[in-house]
Parts: sequence; C-alpha cells; structure tokens
Amino acid sequence: MKVLVVGGAGYIGSHAVKALEVAGHEPWVLDNLYQGHRAAVPADRLIEGDLINPPDLAAVLDKTGAEGVMHFAALALVGESVTDPAKYYLNNVVGTLNLLEAMRERKIWRFVFSSTCATYGVPASSPIDESMPQVPINPYGDTKLAIEKALEAYTNAYGFGVAALRYFNAAGAHHSGEIGEDHDPESHLIPIVLQVALGQRENVTIFGDDYPTPDGTCIRDYIHVDDLCSAHVAALEQLEPGKMMKLNLGTGNGFSVKEVIDACREVTGHVIPAVVGSRREGDPAELVANSSKAFETLGWRPKYTSVEQVVASAWQWHQANPNGYGDGKE
Ligand code: UFG
Repeated sequence: MKVLVVGGAGYIGSHAVKALEVAGHEPWVLDNLYQGHRAAVPADRLIEGDLINPPDLAAVLDKTGAEGVMHFAALALVGESVTDPAKYYLNNVVGTLNLLEAMRERKIWRFVFSSTCATYGVPASSPIDESMPQVPINPYGDTKLAIEKALEAYTNAYGFGVAALRYFNAAGAHHSGEIGEDHDPESHLIPIVLQVALGQRENVTIFGDDYPTPDGTCIRDYIHVDDLCSAHVAALEQLEPGKMMKLNLGTGNGFSVKEVIDACREVTGHVIPAVVGSRREGDPAELVANSSKAFETLGWRPKYTSVEQVVASAWQWHQANPNGYGDGKE
C-alpha cells in the first residue's frame, strides 16, 4: 500500500518508514524538518511541507497517490505546551484537521494516529486500560485528546477507518543501527542517562524520589520503538471503514527512574552519577499500560520485554552516533 508518513523524518516516524518497507508497503514522508532529520529517511522518499499549509497537503497526497496515512507529526513537550498553548493547538489540532480535510476530499480513509498515555492524565489505578477516563492534565494531552475526538466523529460521519494508538514511553533505536533518537534539547530519560555514560553530561538528575512507589521514583512503561512501529503496520493493515480502534501500546512492565539508571550502568559499564532533584511538574507517579486489547486486536506482542534490552539498543545507537544525526536539530 502507498502510505504517507507525516512526520516521517522524526524519531518514531523514521522507524515506521523502515517497518512499512519491510512489510512490503510503499512509504512516502511529509516532514517540515522542524524536528525531523533529513538523514533519517531515504532522500527520494522525502517531501518537505507543512501541515499548517493545506496546499502542501493537497500536493503530497496527489503526488504520492497515498491510500493511507500514518500521522506522527506533533509537538510533544509538556512544559512548552503549558507556556505556549497556541503553538500546540495550531500545530497539533489545526494541522491534523487540515490533513483530515485533504484526505476527505480525496476519499482516503485509512488513518493511523500517534496518541499518548498523556490523554489519561493522572490515572486512578495502574496498569491503565482503554476504558479508563481520559482527563489530560496539560495542553499537550488536551490536543491529542481533541484529535481523538475529531477522529471518532470523522469515523462515524465520513467512514474513516482509524487506529488511535496510545503510546507509553517510546525508547531504543532501530536494530540496524542506522537510525535512532536525537532530540535537541534532549528531555527523555534514557538518552540523557546515556549522554552521561558518554561523558557529555556530568550527571543525571532524578526528578523526585518521594513518589508513592517502591523506591520513590516515577515508574514508566518503556516500549521499544521497533515494537511500536510493528504495531502501527499491523493496525494499518486491519483498518476498516467506519471503525475506530483505540489501543494502548506498552509492554505492561513498569520500571522506576532508578531502575532505568541501574540498567544503563549495567549495559554501558559506566558509573553514571545521579543526583536527586525536585519533582518535575505534571509527572504522574506511575504510567504502565495494560495492552491486552492491542495484543488481541492486532495479534501483536512486543519483542523487547526487558528494560536492559531497550537500553542496549539505544546504547548501540548513541555510542555509534554521539552527536545524533549531527544536524543540531530535534
Ligand atoms: N526523568 C528524570 N530525569 C530526567 C528526565 C526524566 O528523572 O532528566 C524522569 C521523569 O520525571 C519521568 C521519567 O524519567 O518520571 C521519564 O521521563 P521522560 O521525559 O523520558 O518521559 P515522560 O514519561 O515524561 O514522557 C512521555 C513521552 C512524552 C510525552 C509524555 C506525556 O516521552 O513525549 O510522556 O506524559 F509527552
């Protein structure tokens, strides 16, 4: 199938392009290269353009003849979404509506959307399943939930076939070693800890050790990016007009910040100094997925089940590419 991967030069999108190729599909990338990396995708498959600009969308859909769309392009920094919500609503919500309208005009109905566990806010219990209330606690989560609601309406009214995939913490790098995670500034735990191992930072700050968890640090569900992307391909292949899947994508295993740092010490053989700092605003104590619905619906299972495996794959990339793609971009 010809698939337009919007945001395909970014971290998860570029891994999806590889997964689509392996599965025999024909991926095309639309990216504005604001956060994406030119080097992360084949040059002959990259079309530069912006969701905010409807003529770009018309041109790329007509040029590629896309039969389906995977949509990864979004701003995803929680703190920035609080201080500059307009940027988030315009890029994430208005941009996605532009895309849906361009698809509707062309009767393209297959849509796979990057949603997030952030739509659950602070969950009442853990692990989280899809029936739990979606009550985001920041504008980033609000934008993702607003899009999920729009997608539900488009599914019912216009016959779109949609998968809203609610990711937990994406981590790791492609098994080929060719692409990986490169954000600037980096805010995610595993790359930061590995930058300490590489001698690029003096230490890692643990954001709070007074949470109600066994070791006092926050627990997250780290899912390997290749596993995320195989779920995307499976979802794309199972879309049906007029039906919307809403699926959590995680491993079901939670690891604390301290456990992640220990795993990085073990994998890298470096000491990795850590200091305890204050809590980061908006961090729930525990976010772990119940992904049974995805397992059943997609016939999918994550292949990376231990945090050491995920860290080892990230370490392979960071060691070989200490400056990421070397283009100074997120
Ligand atoms: N953390 C630290 N020190 C750091 C960085 C992170 O202790 O230097 C902690 C965080 O407080 C959190 C855990 O490590 O408890 C994971 O933090 P990340 O920033 O790696 O990931 P988040 O769980 O905050 O972020 C994920 C996605 C985001 C999304 C967010 C929404 O990666 O894209 O969930 O909740 F916006």
